[in-house]
Formats: sequence, structure tokens, C-alpha cells
Amino acid sequence: MIYMSEYRTMREYIEEFPQHITGGLQVGADYTFKHKPTAVKNILLAGLGGSGIGAEIVTNYIDKKISVPVLTCKDYFLPGFVDQDTLVIACSYSGNTEETLYIFEEASKRNAQLVCITSGGKLGIAAAQKDVDLLQIPGAMPPRACVGYSFVQILFVLKHYGIIGDEFVNELHAAVALLEQTHEAIKAEARDIVARIDNRMPVIYVDQHIASVATRWRQQFNENSKILGWERVIPEMNHNELVGWRDQNEQLAVLFLHSGDEYERIIKRFQINKSIIEQHTSVVIDVYAKGNTYFEKVLYLILLGDWSSWYLSEHRHVDAVEVKVIDYLKKSLCE
Ligand code: PA5
Repeated sequence: MIYMSEYRTMREYIEEFPQHITGGLQVGADYTFKHKPTAVKNILLAGLGGSGIGAEIVTNYIDKKISVPVLTCKDYFLPGFVDQDTLVIACSYSGNTEETLYIFEEASKRNAQLVCITSGGKLGIAAAQKDVDLLQIPGAMPPRACVGYSFVQILFVLKHYGIIGDEFVNELHAAVALLEQTHEAIKAEARDIVARIDNRMPVIYVDQHIASVATRWRQQFNENSKILGWERVIPEMNHNELVGWRDQNEQLAVLFLHSGDEYERIIKRFQINKSIIEQHTSVVIDVYAKGNTYFEKVLYLILLGDWSSWYLSEHRHVDAVEVKVIDYLKKSLCE
């Protein structure tokens, strides 16, 4: 187990996010697959926490474009449909996450087309023993700080299997350029957001097509800022959660994340939701993406969320890196 003393500060990792994406593009481009691709009928992307968010970012990128179903898995158990025609990508930064190791073993038994993404650990050993393709990402970081490397590897695997083309490479280079140009402005915007959140719990609303971004914001608030919060997607929350906005609730700060690509009916829903929620809390913040492509917008918002989580950690005087309670839980499960 790696302890916090072995890490640099979260501030440094967030600062390096654009370079991590460039590094991830290099890792993927340098990798030579051992196994020829076969035609797959469906895709399962397995991984949890900081190693699961990349699957969601990629799913939002591909699910409206590709002709086979794609599902994420954050569990010990494989869905029933997984067989030799399924591409299973198992991602665990440490390589020691037991749920992902179960998925690896079961997918191997079912003869699925299996690929691993890890920095090493038991998953690295198991992949070598079973001669499974393994894209290795750099070690010694908190898993969530390595997402810039990990999600890019999923794209290279999908390209190898003919699911997507290589257009993501140029799109990611352009996104990195945007992040570098706007980095200081992103930090300033994050500081403003945190000044408005103050001591409130963040509630994040987003259009379904970039749900991964809201999940990342919430996860980073949880792990870096040590605060509870939740995210919901529109339209689904219009059919339940909206009813919960009944009383005055000044403990909550609401963030609406906008990509600019929302369908016109979703835009109308955002406006109506905002007008309702504003009646129940005074802190309602609109956050807008910059850029043109999916990756420019999504990575811009992710970097903004990561910086917001960092400034909120400073505001709350907590150590953004440590996740002692997750370490405790994992250790207790081994006893
Ligand atoms: O950020 C974290 O430390 C966690 O969310 C981990 O990513 C999660 O516990 C899974 O571990 P790993 O990424 O090593 O598979």
C-alpha cells in the first residue's frame, strides 16, 4: 500500500493534468498489442473510483457513435452477456482493487477479449501470467490524479479493436492546447466557485450526455475536499429529485454544468430547474465549458472541477491527497 508521504501535493498533480494527457497519448502510441483484434459484439469497461471515471468519460464520448453496446462495471460480478465476443477492459491504478481482480478472473474464465490498464500490482502480474495485453501507466500517484493517463489508454484499446478511429488523438492534442491556454483563467474561475460554495455541500446537475463530468466533480469534492455532495443528471432528476426542493436549504450550493451542446429541450429544462431551485437556496452557480469538441469541453470542465476541489480543500484546511478511510476499508477487508 502506498502512503501519502510517497506522494507529491494534489496541487502539483492537477497542475500537470494537461501533460498527463500528452503522456497518456505517448504511452498508447508506443504500445504494441500482442493480440490481434477480433470483432466484438459488446464492451464492458471495469474499474472503480479514480480508475472507473475514465470509463465514464469514454462512454460519454462513444455511446452515441458506435454500433455495439458499451457498459461500465463497478462490481465484483460480470453481467450475464459477457462471453468470448465481449471486449472487457479492466482498469485498476494500483492493480490491487479486489472487485476489478474478480472481474479479470471471471472475464478470463469466459474467454472474453481482455485488456488491462494498470501501473502494476496483482492485476499486472495476472495479466502477464495469462498473456493478456496490458497498457502500463506511471506509478506512485493517487489513482484519481492519474486519470489523464488512464482514460486515454481505453481509447487506444477501442481503436485497436476497430470500435473507433484515431480522430481522438488530434482531438486530445487540441484539448491539451486549450487547457494550457486557459489554465490560469480556469484556476481563477475555480477560486470564484469555491468562494461561493464556502461551507455548503455541493450539488451538481448536468445533462446526461456529460454525466461523467458531474461524477468527477463529486468524486474530487469527496476525496480531495473531504466533503459530501451528490450529482444528478437532467432529465432524470426532473422526475424525482426536483420534488425534494421544497424547503429553504442554505446548506447546499447548486452547480449547473453546461457543455453548450445540450439539446434544446434540455436547455429549457435547465432554465426551469434553475428558477425553481433558486427559490430554495441562494447559491446557484452556472458553469460553462469552453472549446468546440467533446474532449475540449469535457476536459476543460474536469480541470475546472479538479481545481475547485483543490481550492475547497484549502478552504476547509484538509489534506487533499490522503484517503486514509479508503485505505482503512481496504485493509479491514483483507483481515
Ligand atoms: O482515488 C482513489 O484512491 C480511489 O478512488 C481508487 O481509485 C479506488 O479505490 C480504486 O483503486 P485503484 O484505482 O487502485 O483500482
